[in-house]
Amino acid sequence: MSVAAILLAAGRGERLGSEVPKAFVELDGRPLLLYSLDVIRSTPAVAFVVVAAPAGWEGRASALAGQGALVVTGGDTRQRSVAAALEGLVDRPDLDVVVCHDVARPLASTGLFESVVKALSDADGAIPVVPVVDTLKRVEGGRVLDTVPRDRLVRVQTPQAFRGEALVRAHGGAASEDATDDAALLERIGLRVAAVHGEHGNIKITEPEDLQLASFLRSHRG
Ligand code: CTP
Ligand code: MG
Repeated sequence: MSVAAILLAAGRGERLGSEVPKAFVELDGRPLLLYSLDVIRSTPAVAFVVVAAPAGWEGRASALAGQGALVVTGGDTRQRSVAAALEGLVDRPDLDVVVCHDVARPLASTGLFESVVKALSDADGAIPVVPVVDTLKRVEGGRVLDTVPRDRLVRVQTPQAFRGEALVRAHGGAASEDATDDAALLERIGLRVAAVHGEHGNIKITEPEDLQLASFLRSHRG
């Protein structure tokens, strides 16, 4: 197996409310982009990295990524950014596994990358999940409608690993609507997606408070 990593870094980070796109927002003095690049580069299985950067920010992304990473212009949805990165891989058929990771998750570990890749031995895709601990309800117009059983519900993280041809096929058949993760496109065409244990510390940076939480988690790591 030869693994390519796609780093999704083309989002604007609107909910973060920063002047620069999320990939360039700093956590403890370093841009988020560098955290994911470091983890990817310390994962021995990964042979090649493609970064989907926001339009107009490709140069900044290249400067941070340095040599050995391909930077492509992302799309206006996450799904389109993945498609753009996959196009950057068309002349690398030797890379038969693709791992998609969001720059918004700077604290994912090398072990998590390894575990999703390993789970492909009997699946077309593999995703990290953590249990839902909150009670879930459906609400409409400020009124509670009902309670949603949560025993089979999970929260999904990245990195997500895929057999290359499965991911390309899933994207090729995808409708124009935006899937918030790549596994959804495989599920839709009946491919096998495995769930592996995610990491509680692998939080997603969405709101400004998440940066403080990530900084706290980092300072309490061994
Ligand atoms: N992403 C992307 N291309 C897009 C939209 C999102 O590559 N057109 C990436 C983001 O960079 C992020 C991941 O997909 O790593 C998840 O998206 P999200 O957390 O929503 O980040 P943003 O879209 O940047 O944030 P917001 O929705 O608040 O603008
Ligand atoms: Mg977004």
